[in-house]
Amino acid sequence: MYTQIPILLTIAGTVNGYAWMERIANGGPAATLDKRAPICPIHLAPQGAAPYSDYYPSKYTGAKNGLPGTGKGGVLVPAAGDTAHAYSPPSPSDIRGPCPGLNMAANHNFISHDGLTNFVELVDFAQNVFNWGWDLATFVATFGIVMDGDPFTSQLSIGCGGGMQIPNTGLNAHNKFETDSSMTRNDYFTSPTGDAYSVNATIFGYMNDYCDGDFTLGCMGPYMGSRYNNSKETNPNFFFGPLGLFAFGTATLPQESFASYGNAGTPSVDTIQYFWAVNRSASGSSTWIANPGHETIPPNWCNRPTALSFAEIFGETSQLYAEAGYPAFGGNVGKTDAFVGLTFEAGGIENGILKDPSAEGIACLFQQVLMDTVPQSLSIVLTQDPIASAFAKTNLAGIFKSFGCPAL
Ligand SMILES: *[C@@H]1O[C@H](CO)[C@@H](O)[C@H](O)[C@H]1NC(C)=O
Ligand SMILES: *[C@@H]1O[C@H](CO)[C@@H](O)[C@H](O)[C@H]1NC(C)=O
Ligand SMILES: *[C@@H]1O[C@H](CO)[C@@H](O)[C@H](O)[C@H]1NC(C)=O
Repeated sequence: MYTQIPILLTIAGTVNGYAWMERIANGGPAATLDKRAPICPIHLAPQGAAPYSDYYPSKYTGAKNGLPGTGKGGVLVPAAGDTAHAYSPPSPSDIRGPCPGLNMAANHNFISHDGLTNFVELVDFAQNVFNWGWDLATFVATFGIVMDGDPFTSQLSIGCGGGMQIPNTGLNAHNKFETDSSMTRNDYFTSPTGDAYSVNATIFGYMNDYCDGDFTLGCMGPYMGSRYNNSKETNPNFFFGPLGLFAFGTATLPQESFASYGNAGTPSVDTIQYFWAVNRSASGSSTWIANPGHETIPPNWCNRPTALSFAEIFGETSQLYAEAGYPAFGGNVGKTDAFVGLTFEAGGIENGILKDPSAEGIACLFQQVLMDTVPQSLSIVLTQDPIASAFAKTNLAGIFKSFGCPAL
């Protein structure tokens, strides 16, 4: 289906081709790049999350069936005695991918251990484990499924596209959820193996050095700016699209979700390393070793006391984007000194510049991307089909409206 999409793009008034889009259009990442070309395990009948036993409702937020929980956290996770949600490592037939939190969730059976999850599991997990507000949990679950999953069945593979009926799905699909200049992963086109989804221990080490082992919001903004600069300077196919802002949202995770007690705790490397499945090569060493797919909850870990809301995360995304120096949207067109800004009028981006980078401006850009039409030039990286936008509208219209975004 992708071969029919025109690959010449009108960007900033000129006609240019982002070379990588052409390569993706002509056969997809696995066929052209990933030398290991892993076969994705097929899971036609996902095993499903371990249920939150009725013995434990007060130990989590009581979120079930995709509905809001209590929003009261500050509790040990997994709850004492809750062996159903103890860590169990992935087997070769289990799918793992680029998102540390979702790999962890699968390893702990908060979502299906095989890695093929769905909307309800995701909304329950984010509330019960991280104590996200229902609005934020709903937004992120919907975002993942619209971009990389199957909105018809509401399923999502957290890595490769196993068991899914539609092509180019799964969080590994490049430049949707999985973007260039990420916190800890390689860029797709500069990776020696085409692997942009596994944590790279060297890059985790850069992050640790940059932030001196303390991944506060104040450090993560500039760090993301440095990652952007590095990709722009070294990757001839670097692309930073509107969804790159989602990566800025995920850069708040160490402080807001991964620290023990979240925003009330300290995002120190000793805790955070468990979520990225990395470890020092020896005690005190600055060299790191990754064990991708083995992300786990740190010992004696408690979630944040108060629920993390949609409004807070967009406020912080805006803050981090500012602290990164408002990196421009667009990409290199085959050379590292050839950056071309993109224009996406309905989303408020002109020549690479987002006109309103406030929390509201960013949220309304996401509304546009999820619920309305996008330019042809972005159709490879921004999924567009009527089922997806209807799914997004059903789940999110009310949330965006209460945030002041125009009705679409
Ligand atoms: C990890 O990242 C470093 C720095 O970008 C790179 O040199 C190295 O090749 C990467 N390793 C793997 C296994 O991709
Ligand atoms: C990124 O590059 C820009 C432009 O050269 C520079 O102004 C900014 O300080 C750099 N940011 C970081 C975090 O290094
Ligand atoms: C990390 O490495 C230390 C030794 O340096 C070891 O004791 C510990 O078990 C390792 N942790 C994990 C999670 O692999």
